[in-house]
Amino acid sequence: MYGYIVDVVNLLLRWLHVIAAIAWIGESIYFVMLDNSLRKPKAAEDHEKGVSGEMWAVHGGGFYHNQKYTTAPAKLPNDLHWSFWKAYTTWLTGFALFVVLYMASPEFYLVNANSPWAWAAELSGWQANLLALAFLLGGWVVYNELCKRISPNMERDGLLSLAVAVMMVIVAYLSTQLFTGRAAFLLTGAVMATAMSANVFFWIIPGQRRMVKAMKAGEAPNPLDGKRGKQRSVHNTYFTLPVVLLMISNHYSFLYSHELAWVVMALLIFAGAVIRQFFVLMHAGHNKPGYLVAGAALIVLAFWVGAPSASGPASAEAGSPGREQVSAIIEQHCVQCHARDPAHAGFSAPPAGHVFESWDEIKQQREIIQQVVGNHYMPLGNITNMTAEERDIIAAWEE
Ligand code: HEC
Repeated sequence: MYGYIVDVVNLLLRWLHVIAAIAWIGESIYFVMLDNSLRKPKAAEDHEKGVSGEMWAVHGGGFYHNQKYTTAPAKLPNDLHWSFWKAYTTWLTGFALFVVLYMASPEFYLVNANSPWAWAAELSGWQANLLALAFLLGGWVVYNELCKRISPNMERDGLLSLAVAVMMVIVAYLSTQLFTGRAAFLLTGAVMATAMSANVFFWIIPGQRRMVKAMKAGEAPNPLDGKRGKQRSVHNTYFTLPVVLLMISNHYSFLYSHELAWVVMALLIFAGAVIRQFFVLMHAGHNKPGYLVAGAALIVLAFWVGAPSASGPASAEAGSPGREQVSAIIEQHCVQCHARDPAHAGFSAPPAGHVFESWDEIKQQREIIQQVVGNHYMPLGNITNMTAEERDIIAAWEE
């Protein structure tokens, strides 16, 4: 029953999370497009009112006329539309999902038994949970400090972007050493997603509140608030494509099972940002297909680096192991989870739909070899302590 409830909570949280994220990212992409598509207003009276740009659009059977005021409009209406709940809902549901899915069973979802650092491989469950939380918080603190120190008055955008790029390579590297591959990709995505939500929560919305307050009091708003809001929201736009990729990565174990998974991850993050740049420029009226080509090249490079090595097992035993030997290993290491009615408390149904209770089921061996020998992803978190010798036996098994 416990496993069933976890599954239902997981589904409902994920449903809300995806809907909120679609709404938030959609709106964010829309506003970057709007800002970049603004053209000088035609009517002279608009110039006098302080309108700096406008965009005409047709959508859903109606015509829309957006105007942007750079200076305060003569009168600010009371029913301004604010955007923040989508960002907060996305973060809150995402964090809740992380708690339910990873932090509830950290010993096999977070702890990296293959970590090159012995202390990390030996973390207890709650230590791994604390480390994951520190990782998320640390990511935001470092990113925020980089912004404040390199660009206190919203200058040196290029240098800041470079610093954030270097930071993301370090995050990708550390995450894959400290946590299981699947959690590493997710946590790196979560570091970026946390920065995005925190940008909204700590800077963009408070800045806008100060601006509105000043305007209502008839004072000139601090221009830094507007500039900072813009800077952080531009960062958010470059984070969106990489974040979405990292969030869906957990369905693709080939992504995070490679030794150089951090390089693959960093290249894909850059690919996402570069492809986003193509669209940002396109909306501003500049067609620069070079960015698309560069993005595609980075993706090709990532999958070239991450391709599985063709070499077979290091020490193939003499002859192929028999059915009894293989069955015994699967029985001992897999069936507590991969059964119709799993004995493992965390599962109410066979994980990923795979059942290995009979020889006929075990015979779908390609998948087994891939998960056990190809990427060491199974047994999950090596919770059943499978030995290297046992992996070699599976590797040498052919039927
Ligand atoms: C602690 C529970 C647990 C144990 C033990 C375990 N698995 Fe899994 N297995 C899972 C879960 C959970 C998934 C789904 C993982 C995912 O979605 O990334 C899974 C997925 C799989 C998949 C599908 C992977 C994919 O990406 O489609 C295969 C194949 C697999 N396991 C084989 C094995 C084999 C072989 C063993 C024993 C050597 C084993 N598992 C032991 C929990 C377990």
